[in-house]
This record gives sequence, C-alpha cells and structure tokens, in this order.
Amino acid sequence: MHIRIFDTSDDLARAAAQRVAELLQRTPNAVLGLATGRTPLETYAELRRSYARGAADFSHATTFNLDEFVGIDRTHPGSFRRYMDMKLFDEVNLDLSRIHFLDGMASDLGAECVRYERAIEDRGGIDLQLLGIGANGHIGFNEPADELIASTHRVMLHETTRRDNAAQFGGDPTRVPHEALSMGMGTILKARAVLLLAMGSRKAHCVERAVYGPLTTRLPASFLQTHRAVELLLDRQAAALLREPLPTGSVSSGSGR
Ligand code: GLP
Repeated sequence: MHIRIFDTSDDLARAAAQRVAELLQRTPNAVLGLATGRTPLETYAELRRSYARGAADFSHATTFNLDEFVGIDRTHPGSFRRYMDMKLFDEVNLDLSRIHFLDGMASDLGAECVRYERAIEDRGGIDLQLLGIGANGHIGFNEPADELIASTHRVMLHETTRRDNAAQFGGDPTRVPHEALSMGMGTILKARAVLLLAMGSRKAHCVERAVYGPLTTRLPASFLQTHRAVELLLDRQAAALLREPLPTGSVSSGSGR
C-alpha cells in the first residue's frame, strides 16, 4: 500500500482530484469507479473546479458508482444518484449514456446486480476506483460479516451504517433503507488502481487495521492489502495510529510529512 498523509482535508482533496484529472489527460476514455459519503465531497468540488478551468475533461469518460440504496429512486434526497448528480454529473461534461448506476428500484434486484457486473466487464473494467471507508471498515456497502460476496450483490445494512447515513434522510436513522446494492469486494479488487480516502479520527482505528491487520471479512478494507496498486490518502487524524516507518513505497507528501 502506498500511503500519503496530508495536513488538511483540502490538500488531500486536491491530490485526489489531481489523480483523476491526470488519468483523464492520459486516458480520456478512462473508466472511473466513484464513491459517495462525506469524504469525497471536497474532491468532487475540486474536480468541478478543474473542469471549469479546463484541466479535466470528462467527455469520453465512463463512470460506475459503488453502491445505491434499495427502495428509493434517483430523485430521492438520500439516493447516491442524486448526490452524484448534484456534486459532479450535472456540473461536468460527462456523457449521460456513460454514467452507470445501480437501480435500487429495479423489480428484480438480483438481475440488476448481474447486469451491473456485466456492464463493468463490457466496458473493460474499472481503471481507477475511488473509495471511502466506513467507520466499521466497510468498503462500498461490503459490511463486516462471516463471508464477503465477491460480485455485485444485495446487502443488509448494519445499524451503525444506517445511523451514519441518516443525515440525507432528515437525520432519522429509521428512514434509512435497510438494504442496498453494492459492488462486491471482488468487483472492487479487480479495479486496476484504487484510491482510498479517509479523514478524521473516527476512521483511524479501521485505517490502522486495514494497513497492518490480518485479512479478515470482519474488516472488508483489509483485503485491499492484496491489491498491487492501492493508494491511501489520509489526513493526520485518520493516520494517527499508523507507525513509522510507513509500509514500503509510501510517501509523506502533500504538505504532509
Ligand atoms: C457509506 C458509503 C461508502 C462510504 C462510507 C463512508 O456507507 N456506502 O461508500 O465510504 O459511507 O462515508 P463517509 O465518507 O461519510 O464517512
């Protein structure tokens, strides 16, 4: 794992957006895997600014988002599709036909998962997958469990995850759907490169376990240790439990150490 630690969340977001912009310059038709949550908000703001000043061109890019809630449609304020429309899709020159999303309203959710997994393969796989991390170590909506499912699947959300997502549902965890659709750990690990962003002290413990801990389905992020091109962009709080020296290949950068 390649780890970069930043003094501020702004520096971290700039570095993340730069990775995406550089990929698009090198490979205009890149396939991006995108994440939601609070963590990437500033990265998307940076990408909007990059687009506005001509430093990022999404016109040939394809996107696949990690996950979506079951039972709410794309206009619901809590849907990840709505989040992405507001934070990125409506603001840059992405071609609508190349934006891919799981449909949590599909009548056959199993078939929807199969369709999504195939669509990723048909587009040649994901070049760069952006990830956040849940405070319980979940990735996408791959929750800690006895077993992890490799491909895109239907998930029962943990109560902690529902609480963490309550803000978009009027602050009421009981209004957060019980289920979601999510790329599987296998889907995520097939991405050619992974960029995991983590900020704040709430993430420090799971970041520490993801970096040093055993591979365990109890901490889905630990499987990122098996990937050959994972970069962790952390702020100081999220990195607080990492020990010097950092794993081989890591850099202390940004305005960070
Ligand atoms: C949700 C999303 C994840 C995200 C996580 C962390 O559960 N499904 O993709 O990484 O929350 O969210 P936050 O960035 O708000 O801490």
